[in-house]
Amino acid sequence: MLVVLAADTAALDREAARIVAHRAREKPAITLGLAAGSTPLGMYRELVRLHREEGLDLSGVTTFNLDEYLGVAPSHPRSFHRFMREALFDHVDLEAYCAEYERRIARAGGIDLQVLGIGRDGHVGFNEPTSSLASRTRVKTLTLATIEDNRRVFGEGERVPECAITMGIGTILEAREILLLGAGPTKRDAVAKAVEGPLTASVTASALQLHPRVTVLLDREAAAGLRHLDYYERVMRTTAAITSGRAARARD
Ligand code: F6R
Repeated sequence: MLVVLAADTAALDREAARIVAHRAREKPAITLGLAAGSTPLGMYRELVRLHREEGLDLSGVTTFNLDEYLGVAPSHPRSFHRFMREALFDHVDLEAYCAEYERRIARAGGIDLQVLGIGRDGHVGFNEPTSSLASRTRVKTLTLATIEDNRRVFGEGERVPECAITMGIGTILEAREILLLGAGPTKRDAVAKAVEGPLTASVTASALQLHPRVTVLLDREAAAGLRHLDYYERVMRTTAAITSGRAARARD
């Protein structure tokens, strides 16, 4: 894992967008896996800016949503993606739906770059604690903590979904490259466990330790629980020259 420390959230947004834009320029028909949630919002805004102001062409890009709430109305603005709504509300066979989703990823040639957030309980996607580290796309029951965290994006008195469809950890690990974003103090413990803790299904983000090409991009608050911060800062400085296409750059 390459741990990259950003001075603040704005710097994190810019750096995350720079990584994605760099990959999209290298491979215009790139396949991206994309997380929803508050963490990557600034990155998406910056990508739009790059598109509008700096000619970033994303027209050839294919994207897969990392996960989706179950039981959210088709017109709901918080729904992660419209195409999944129809499938869910037409009462499709969810197992068949999940299998088809995996087949579509395979048909697209696999995911080149998977963008992830991290939950307070260390989940990636909605792979809650005790999810199999070999899991594939499937329906998961959300923990009460995750349901509470999700409540803030739903309206007053609105039902917050208790289940979601999510890529599995096995699915995520098949992406060729992974960008994990962490921002804010509530992510501190989860980030520390994911990056420096033991590999465990209790913190599914720790499975990323098995992947050969992961960048963990953190603001200072999210990075505050890491024991080896000095080391990551040195790695950023000393390898800036040879990782220019990856994340660390001397001026950061
Ligand atoms: C969203 C997803 C979740 C979130 C995580 C953090 O597609 O898969 O794992 O990334 O719950 O959410 P935020 O960024 O809202 O703190």
